[in-house]
Formats: sequence, structure tokens, C-alpha cells
Amino acid sequence: MKILQLSVLSLFLILTGFETDQLPALQDVFEDAFLMGVAIDRQHIFAHEPSATETVKRANRRGYSYQCQIIVDPPALDLVTYHYNSITTENVLKWEEVHPEPGVYDFAASDRFVEIGEANDMFMNGHTLIWHNQTPDWVFEDEHGNELDRDALLERMRDHIHMVVGRYKGRIHAWDVVNEAVNLDGSLRESRWYDIIGEEYLVKAFRFAHEADPDAQLYYNDFLLEIPAKRQGVIRLIEYLQENNAPIHGVGSQSHFNLLEFHDLEEVDQSIVELGELGIDVMITELDINVLPRPGSNTELTDELNPYTDGLPDAVAEELANRYRELFEIYLKNRDIITRVTFWNVTDRDSWLNYLPIEGRTNYPLLFDRDYQPKRAFYTVVDRAKEILKERL
Ligand code: XIL
Repeated sequence: MKILQLSVLSLFLILTGFETDQLPALQDVFEDAFLMGVAIDRQHIFAHEPSATETVKRANRRGYSYQCQIIVDPPALDLVTYHYNSITTENVLKWEEVHPEPGVYDFAASDRFVEIGEANDMFMNGHTLIWHNQTPDWVFEDEHGNELDRDALLERMRDHIHMVVGRYKGRIHAWDVVNEAVNLDGSLRESRWYDIIGEEYLVKAFRFAHEADPDAQLYYNDFLLEIPAKRQGVIRLIEYLQENNAPIHGVGSQSHFNLLEFHDLEEVDQSIVELGELGIDVMITELDINVLPRPGSNTELTDELNPYTDGLPDAVAEELANRYRELFEIYLKNRDIITRVTFWNVTDRDSWLNYLPIEGRTNYPLLFDRDYQPKRAFYTVVDRAKEILKERL
């Protein structure tokens, strides 16, 4: 009798498509809500190439870049294709990587990125065209090292955007056209783009991208939109773009959180609602939760700044899981506004928070651990999402 019951149960599971020992894929769990994405870099993009290491550029806390070697990571790429239906370029389309010197473009990594996305039918987001970081100094200078004038810089901007967006026309679906143009107080950041061109650089960047690929979705992306003053600045920026007929289709809220100074969840909710009122897509574009103390002006690595080198204590893992649950409750509540939620990195092993703003720390900001295993936060989020989405059926 028992055996019969068991086989009836397994038949039921097979027929209903349930496989008991298989981990639910995030893209399936959230299928009715929004795209689930992740940022990938060279260790994933070249995971199945013959060479075992890749040279990557990393920025230090002052925005200057240095090179280092990383080991390619095939298991992480498997995890990406299993769980996610959207990918973003972590670094390979930033100006310094794709266009390191005047007239020199390096598309090897971004070409491979697009192949991976196409082979897996993924929504692809190119990050990022215009930013103040990871942009070489020569971009703003002539061959004698003198600062470019407005027209010359606009021409350089146009050439770059046309070359990069044009190469992937009809293939990369969306672009973070401008990244981080607003200060914490809501004023416009005085980047070299702003200093030389003036605020119109924003409008121009969107126009150039639209010229290069009229079908691409074009986004503005920024962090700390949970802070009302900054959010108001970003809203003003987007309204300015809209008033000037710049083709903007979405806004990305980076969402780099910190467990020790977690934001008021009402502000997280409010920021999504207010951005949604602009009538464009809202996305969570760089989600992670840093569990380590902020170093402030310290640059020395101390034990205090790196307390969990032997593993994450249970109580902290639980707190992390709860914060993720609360965030996803808000995202799901706003699923009519939010079109995509993207994590910044695949596993705790490759998170940028291990090396920024201080190198050599052991951080735990994501849903997958250093051994590619789902963490408690993963199960908490998945279980809660299933409950909420079922209620809504
Ligand atoms: C980070 C990358 O993850 C690092 O590898 C790099 O060294 C520095 O930049 N906001 C952004 C991203 O928009 O581009 C940043 O990515 C993280 C913060």
C-alpha cells in the first residue's frame, strides 16, 4: 500500500512538473512578477574558454583602476543560466574596458557576453555608457593633454555611444545610458561631463544612444534613491530629460544595502512608487546587502572591519535572510511597477564587496555562498515569493 502511495505521488510529481530534488530556479519563481537578473564579469563570460585565468581591471575606492588576475568560474556561469533570465555587464562595457585608448575598442568580452545571453534567451542590459568612474582621463583631453572643449567632447561621446550601442543594435536590449549623475543632496554631480558640456550632456547621451539603436530601452541608473533629497534630484533629472524629449524608458535603483545601517523600508517602498509615477519602467539594478561595517576613512584592513573570515554566524545569516524577505515583499507588492530585479554578482565569492571599499575582506551579500550553494536567504525569499504569488492568483 505504501509503495503504491509513493508511486502515485511520484507520478503526480512528474505529471505536474515538480521535481522534488531540484532547486527552484529564481527565474521560474518570479516568472509572473519581473525578470530576475545578475551582473556578470570576465570570470563568467570566459568560463568555458581554454585559459584558466583572466586579467580584470578593478577600481579602487578613489575610482582608479588596477589590474588583477582572476580564475574563470564555470560553476558560477551554470548558476547564472539556471536561475536568471537577464544579465548585465559588470565591467566589460565600461568605457575603460571597451574603449581603453583613443581609437582602440576591445569587444572580445562583450561579444561573448551577447552570445551567452542569446544562447540562453536572456534579456541583456549594457552597463554603462556615460559615468564619471572607470572612464579614462584621455576621454576629456586632446592629444596634448589639454581639456577638450564642449563640441569636441560631445563628438567623442557621440562616437563612443554610436560605436558601442551600434555594434549590438537589435541584440543588447537595454542600456544604462547615464550612471550616477546626481549628488546626495539632489544637485547634479560636477563630473567632467557636466563641467565641460553642462547639464545638456544628459539629453545628448540619450539622443545618441537612441540614434544608434532606436529599439533599445534606455535607462538612467543611480544609488541611494531611498534618501528623499537624492531621489527628488533624480526625479528632477528624469523630468528634465522628458521635457527635452530625450528618449528615456526606465530608471534603475541600484539598491546596494548595508545590514548594519539598513534603510527605512517605507523609504524603499516610497522610492519605487515615486519613480513609478514618472511613467517609465523601474528596475532594481544592483541588489546586494553588505554585512560588514563601513570602513569610513580607514584604508587599513583590521579584524574589526573583517569579522567573519571563518563563516557567517547563524544570527547574522538569519538577519540577512529577513532583510531580503522584507525587500522582496516590497518588490512583489510593486510588481506592476518593477520590471526587473538584478543582483550585483553571482555568489559571495565574486562580490565586489570583498574588495571595495577595502581589499581582502570576506563578505556575504548575496543569495549564493562561496561554494555556489543557496543560502538561508535564498530559501526565505523563494518561500515567501511563492506564498505571495499564490495569494495573488
Ligand atoms: C563595480 C564593480 O562591481 C567592480 O568590479 C569595479 O571594480 C567597480 O565598480 N555602482 C555601479 C557599478 O554602477 O558599476 C559598480 O561596479 C558598483 C557600484
